[in-house]
Amino acid sequence: MAANIFPKDFLWGASTAAYQIEGALDADGRGPCVWDTFTAAGNIKDGSSAAVACDHYHRWPEDIALMKDAGFNAYRFSIAWPRILPTGTGAVNAAGLDFYDRLVDGILEAGIRPMACLYHWDLPQPLEDAGGWQGRGVVGPFAEYARVVAARLADRVKDWMMLNEPNVVAIFGYGVGEQAPGHKLGEQGMLRALHHQNLAQGAALRAIAAEHSGLTLGTVLNLQPCRAESDRPEDVAAAARWDAVWNRVTLDGLLRGEIPALLADKMKGFVQPGDEAAIRYPIDLLGINYYSRMTMKHEEGHPFDVWWGDAHCDRWTGMAWPVQPDGLYDLLVSLKRDYGNPACYVAENGAAYDDVVGPDGAVHDPERVAFFRDHLESVARAAAQGCNVKGYLCWSLLDNFEWSFGLDKRFGIVRVDYDTLKRTPKDSYRFLAATAKAGRIVETF
Ligand code: BGC
Repeated sequence: MAANIFPKDFLWGASTAAYQIEGALDADGRGPCVWDTFTAAGNIKDGSSAAVACDHYHRWPEDIALMKDAGFNAYRFSIAWPRILPTGTGAVNAAGLDFYDRLVDGILEAGIRPMACLYHWDLPQPLEDAGGWQGRGVVGPFAEYARVVAARLADRVKDWMMLNEPNVVAIFGYGVGEQAPGHKLGEQGMLRALHHQNLAQGAALRAIAAEHSGLTLGTVLNLQPCRAESDRPEDVAAAARWDAVWNRVTLDGLLRGEIPALLADKMKGFVQPGDEAAIRYPIDLLGINYYSRMTMKHEEGHPFDVWWGDAHCDRWTGMAWPVQPDGLYDLLVSLKRDYGNPACYVAENGAAYDDVVGPDGAVHDPERVAFFRDHLESVARAAAQGCNVKGYLCWSLLDNFEWSFGLDKRFGIVRVDYDTLKRTPKDSYRFLAATAKAGRIVETF
C-alpha cells in the first residue's frame, strides 16, 4: 500500500486568499485594489462582488475553529497588500497589520502552522495606475511591503510565500484580460508581467532574509504539465512553447536563474543585465498549485500560436476542467528529476462542483471526495518515489469569491450560505479531516 503512506510530519490543511474570503473592503483604512476596479467595471459573470464574500474579516475565529476541529496542522492564507499599505507605498496602515496580528495569534492558539502568502492578486490600484506589473516600478514597493509585514509577524509566522501564481496574473490579467486588471496586451504583456513579478519575488525574498533568520522562504507557483494534443510536430512544438510560458518562466527563473531559450528573443526588450541573478533564489519551500494537465495544440491567432486541444479526458469539474490526478504525480516526479528535488508542498488542489444542500441541510459532495482521494494517492505515490513533498493543502477551506466567476463557483470543503453566512462542513471536509487525523487516505469517514 505504498500509495497510502505520507511522510512524517506531513502538513495537512487548507488554503485561502484574502480577497476571496475577507469582505470588509472598506474597513479600517484599506485602500482600493485592481480587483475592486475590475469588479466595479462589471466584469464578474454572476454580477456579484467580494464586498462581503465570507465575511472572514469578522468571522475568522469561527473559520479557525473549523480547521482546528478538522485536525489540520497547516493553513496558508494571504495578506492583503492594500490593507497594509493603502496606496501601495508610503504610510503603513496600523489597523491592517493589527488584523493579521490577531489572526496569526488565533491560528497559533489552534495549534496550526500559519503559512503567509504576501500576494494573492490584490495589487493596490495606485500601483496599477503607475504601470502595474508591466514595469519595474512595482519591484521596490513589493519588497518594502514584504519587509514591513515580516517585521511585524516573523516572530510568529515562520513560513513565507511571496507570490501566488504569477503566471495566472500575467496571462489572464495582462495578456487576455479575463482577470484584473483586465488588459489585453498579448504575448508581450504576459511576458513583461511574468518577468516583473519574478524580479519582485527575488527582491522580496532578499528583503526578508536580510532582516530575519530561521524562516522558511518560498513562493507558490501554478504548475500544470503541458502535453500536445497529437503527435503532429506543430502540436508538439506548441505544447513546448506553452510549457515555457506557463511553467518555465517562473520555475527556471527562480530555481536556475534562466530565461527559457524558447522565449529569450521575445523577452530581450525588457530583460536587463543582472536580472537572471536577481530572480534566482535558493528558496526553502516551493508551493505548488495543481488543478489539471494542459493539452495544447498549434492554432494561429492566439498568443504564441497555441490553443487548448482535446484533453482526452472523460471526467470534468464544474469549471469544465479535466480531472487528471496522474498529472500531479508526473509533476512531482519531474521536479525531482529536473530541478534537484526541491522541498515542496501542494499549496492548492481542489474542484468546484454544483453542490446541492440536501433536505437534511448537509452537502454530500462525492465527486469532490473522489477528486481529493485520487490526488492524494498521486502525492503518496510520488513520495514513495522519493519526491520531497511535505504537505497537502486543499483549495479551499470555504466557498468563496471565485474571481471573475463571482460567488457562483464553489470550491470549499465548507459551504458558505451567502445570505446568512452560515458555514456548513461538506462531506469532503469530513473526508480530509479523517485523512489528516489518520495520516493516510481513509476509506470511511
Ligand atoms: C487560485 C485561486 C483560485 C483557484 C480556483 C487558483 O488559480 O490561486 O485563487 O480560486 O485557482 O480557480
